[in-house]
Amino acid sequence: MVRMLIGAMRCPVCGEEFVRQARAAERAGGLTCENGHAFDRARQGYVNLLAGKDPGTGDTAEMIAHRAAFLGAGYYEPVADLLPAAPGGVVVEVGAGTGYYLSRVLDRSPRAEGLALDLSVYAARRAARVHEHAMAAVADCWGKLPLADGSVDLVLDVFAPRNVPEFRRVLRPGGRLAVVTPLPEHLAEIREPLGMLAVDPTKAERMASVTDKDFEVVGSEDLVLSLDLDHAAVADLVGMGPSAYHTEAVGLAELPERVSVTLAVRCALYAPLPR
Ligand SMILES: C[S@@+](CC[C@H](N)C(=O)[O-])C[C@H]1O[C@@H](n2cnc3c(N)ncnc32)[C@H](O)[C@@H]1O
Ligand SMILES: [Zn+2]
Repeated sequence: MVRMLIGAMRCPVCGEEFVRQARAAERAGGLTCENGHAFDRARQGYVNLLAGKDPGTGDTAEMIAHRAAFLGAGYYEPVADLLPAAPGGVVVEVGAGTGYYLSRVLDRSPRAEGLALDLSVYAARRAARVHEHAMAAVADCWGKLPLADGSVDLVLDVFAPRNVPEFRRVLRPGGRLAVVTPLPEHLAEIREPLGMLAVDPTKAERMASVTDKDFEVVGSEDLVLSLDLDHAAVADLVGMGPSAYHTEAVGLAELPERVSVTLAVRCALYAPLPR
C-alpha cells in the first residue's frame, strides 16, 4: 500500500489530486484525478503518467536488462550505502531505472513510501516490483513532476536527469535532495579501450552552480574503490550506460580475463533554501 504517496501525487493533465473511486481501473491499481483523468495500471504494475506527451523513450530493454544484471550482482552496493534514509514520508527517485537505489533506501526507511519515475517503460516494469512500499510511473523528469508542491521528504538522483527547479518545488521544508555523480576517474580503465563516453570533468562544479539559488549543500562524500570484474560484468557495465547508444562492446576480448575498474562517485546532499 502506498496511500501516503498517492496523496502526494498530482494529475499530470490538470494538477488535481488523485481520488479513490470504485472504478475498475482503480481496483486494479490505476489512478483517477478529481477531474476524471484516468491512468490505468499496466499488467506489469506501473502507471503511465506521460498523458499523451512524447518526450522520447529513455533506456532500452537491453540497457535495462544489463543494468538489472550488474546492480543485482551487488557491485554498486557501496553507492547505495552513501544514500540517506528517510525518517518517513515520501521518497522519489528520478530516472530510477530498475529502482535499485530506491529499494535500498526504503529498506532502511520503514515508515516511508517510494515513487520510481523513469521515462523508460522497461525501467518502470522492473521498478514496479522492486519494493512493497514503492510504486513506479513512466514520466518525463525534465517536465513537471507529477507531485504536489512541498510533498516530498527525499529526492534521489543517481546518474539521472537533474531538474533542479522541480526538485526544489516538490521538496518540503526540511526535505533533502541526494545526487550521485561520477568523478573524472570513474571507470577510467575501460572507457578508452571500450570506446565509452568520458566523464565531463566539470560535472560536479556544474551541478553546484545549477543548485546555488535553490539549495545549499549540507553534506558530500566521495567514494573511490576498485571493482574486480569479469568480462560478463564489464559487458553489463558498458551495456547499461549511455555509451550503449554510441558503441558496441568492442575490444572486450582484448582485456585481461579479470579487469580492475575504478568506481569513483560523489554523493552530495542538499537542503532546499527557504523562498
Ligand atoms: C544512467 S540511468 C540511471 C538509472 C538509475 N538511477 C541507476 O543508477 O540505476 C538514467 C535513467 O534515466 C532515465 N531517463 C532518461 N531521460 C529521462 C527523462 N527525461 N525522464 C525520466 N527518466 C529519464 C533513463 O531511462 C535511465 O533509466
Ligand atoms: Zn486531472
